Amino acid sequence: LTPQTLQGKKVLVSAGPTWEPFDPVRFITNPSSGKMGFALAAEAARRGASVDLVTGPTTLPDPAGLTTHRITTARDMERVVRTLAEEAHLVIMAAAVSDYRPEEAAPHKIKKDDEELTIRLVRNPDILAGLGKNKKPGQILVGFAAETEHLVRNATEKLQRKNLDLIVANDLTQPGAGFRSDTNVVKVLDRFGGVEELPCLSKEEIARRLLDRIESLGAR
Ligand code: PMT
Repeated sequence: LTPQTLQGKKVLVSAGPTWEPFDPVRFITNPSSGKMGFALAAEAARRGASVDLVTGPTTLPDPAGLTTHRITTARDMERVVRTLAEEAHLVIMAAAVSDYRPEEAAPHKIKKDDEELTIRLVRNPDILAGLGKNKKPGQILVGFAAETEHLVRNATEKLQRKNLDLIVANDLTQPGAGFRSDTNVVKVLDRFGGVEELPCLSKEEIARRLLDRIESLGAR
């Protein structure tokens, strides 16, 4: 039986991609499957936490023992996450939130009448940066950073700018890392400059190690 080390704690986890539509049948997205965030939510629930999982579109079924909230766009995710974060002791943003959305979504399917089609994109809110600005006393905020270059430098910049306690730097250039796979390759960076490098592990094992690390932070 898993020790109930998160009993009495409220944990909020985000997962999956967002879909940003430009007509009723087309949208901008990324390859996130939700596996990393779902593994984290399930592990927190096994440790006795009361868990809310906010996920973009994915084919994964709702995990047992927690509450799953299904959303589509970044702005939907922001609304739900912001409300649930008010009460959360721990927030982990594993979602791959689309940084941009089409400025307009056509009400009907766009016809292919023209040789070229230009879609103008506008910035989406940065959900995690918003949580960092309104961080509650004692709340632990954990982000992910999916990078293709300057892994530690870029992740450290996000850790500081978004006012996080930990960031999981996800090296997308490594085999077995990142989107869709059952494994991941990450470095865990803390706000005190500590860097822990993990080998290629299953997303379930990464979830266990990350929650162990977070629990040790809570005791600081
Ligand atoms: O879902 P899987 O297939 O298992 O893949 C896992 C994963 C690769 C999606 C995951 O491990 C991961 O790296 N998630 C973060 C991906 C990402 O969007 O990283 P980022 O560097 O763009 O964002 C930095 C942080 O800010 C993230 O915690 C992100 O959730 C958050 N963010 C980003 C943009 C935005 N508008 N709002 C946010 O809150």
